[in-house]
Amino acid sequence: MSTNTERWGTRVGLVLAMAGNAVGLGNFLRFPVQAINNGGGAFIIPYLVSFLVMGIPLLWIEWAMGRFGGMRGHHSAPFMLDTMARQRLWKYFGVFGIWTNLAVAAYYCYIESWTMSYVMHSIGRTFDGMSQTEVANFFLNYVDITTTTTGIPFEAPVFYILCLLLNTWILSRGLSGGVEKTAKIGMPLLILFGVFLAIRGLTLGTSGASASHPDASAWAGLNFLWSPQFDSLANPKVWLAAAGQIFFTLSVGMGTIHCYAAYVKAKDDVALNAMSAGWMNEFVEVVLGSSIVIPIAAGYLGLDWVKENAGFGMAFQTMPFLFENWGPVLAAIAGVFWFGLLFFAGITSSLAMGTPWMGFLQDEFNWGREKSAWSFGALVLVMGLPTVFFYNYGVFSEYDYWAGTVSLVVFALAESIVFSWIFGIDKGWREITSGADMTVPIPYKFIIKYITPLFLLFVFIGSVFSPMGGDWAGAWNSLLAGNGWILDNGSLIKMVLNTGLREQIAATTDPAQLEHLQTSLTLVSASRALLTAVFVGVCLMVYTAARRRPRGKESGT
Ligand code: ALA
Repeated sequence: MSTNTERWGTRVGLVLAMAGNAVGLGNFLRFPVQAINNGGGAFIIPYLVSFLVMGIPLLWIEWAMGRFGGMRGHHSAPFMLDTMARQRLWKYFGVFGIWTNLAVAAYYCYIESWTMSYVMHSIGRTFDGMSQTEVANFFLNYVDITTTTTGIPFEAPVFYILCLLLNTWILSRGLSGGVEKTAKIGMPLLILFGVFLAIRGLTLGTSGASASHPDASAWAGLNFLWSPQFDSLANPKVWLAAAGQIFFTLSVGMGTIHCYAAYVKAKDDVALNAMSAGWMNEFVEVVLGSSIVIPIAAGYLGLDWVKENAGFGMAFQTMPFLFENWGPVLAAIAGVFWFGLLFFAGITSSLAMGTPWMGFLQDEFNWGREKSAWSFGALVLVMGLPTVFFYNYGVFSEYDYWAGTVSLVVFALAESIVFSWIFGIDKGWREITSGADMTVPIPYKFIIKYITPLFLLFVFIGSVFSPMGGDWAGAWNSLLAGNGWILDNGSLIKMVLNTGLREQIAATTDPAQLEHLQTSLTLVSASRALLTAVFVGVCLMVYTAARRRPRGKESGT
């Protein structure tokens, strides 16, 4: 039985921590890029539908599972699933609820560490007078750790370690003393900074147009995003992108929500809390997330430039340059606000990623809070350093693909089946509605049981068989014409085989590029082996923990 008796200090603290878990780098870096790359307004409807039929049900499922598990002394997914499913194997699906967090934290904290460094560079006015290319190159030099042109030797690993130390220290202070306090400070500041920048983005209009970018207009950026296009509803590619964004932004399918919710009291509400945190995330993503990068970039560089260059580097490679248009003092303030906002968004999410691992060790191996926090820091350091040192070799993207994309869907599918079909929707519904401070709409009982698992199945199958270029209509035609289904290199099957990289190796004639690509292949395969080893390691720990339980307690309470 767990000796872990921690609790949230206040309801506001819990909701802010949960919202902080969801509000993250994904809201400001991933959402605008996904929206632009998937047709702007074409993206919004699938995104909102995914939120309603997949996001909200998963929030309720995970909060309910968390409180259910917490009442029985489980603060991480494996034994929550075990208790609900009463069948031995399900707990190994719960391993995703720990592993995903370790793997995502490993690369996520790297981005978080950039934001710390960029706050410092904004205060130090490093970007003053730099051209657009110089600002962009600054970032490239930063992530290429063989150079020291950013002014600090080994700046990337140094800031990464500092960032991990900070995360670990806060985690070691506990839930109410560390995580909750950070959320209470970080979330209001994040919103304040975001509102300031969004007002700037929304009021820029066409004032940023210049001789080199005469068509620049912040309104064009906003219009592109907010003119719904209904034809996208028939495009599975857009649906997959929208569902992927909902997963990442809400932190569903990760295991963090289960863990946070495990620390509420038995009679506490979960239904309204889940909605408060979830909708707060949507406000920050849809309102603030879309009002900063896109309008400001389109306001100075034009919508066409944004469409061609949309990528997550924009935040680091372009924004500091654009802020310079506002004069040196305002540029420094905007830099601190922008990267400070990203930092608070990041840290309130990465802290959440530490808690399932800690909860597991505390529950199953009687580790203390500090020891389990430092073990999280150490493990993430080992897993994360390859993403720092080999960022340019695709290791970072490899982690993001398996942990930040595939694993979320697999785990969500498993938990939704356990919740609705094995534990049973009637019991599940009681878990969601008991102690609820709101009326949970009855249609959601049907949605949770049927629509959500089907939707998740569609997302999973869609990612396994993504056709070339995301052209589903073309792929069906090709199949019906007897020419087979041509898979995209981003489909799960081709990702497993590293087909994209192998094709590039076969096609290149440049010896230097060949060497780089071959090294990439080796490093990507090695990093995959490391991720697998950690997964297997956690499975073994779960197995050991199950065997250590008193007989008859392996499954069930
Ligand atoms: N939900 C977190 C984010 O959006 C992980 O970054």
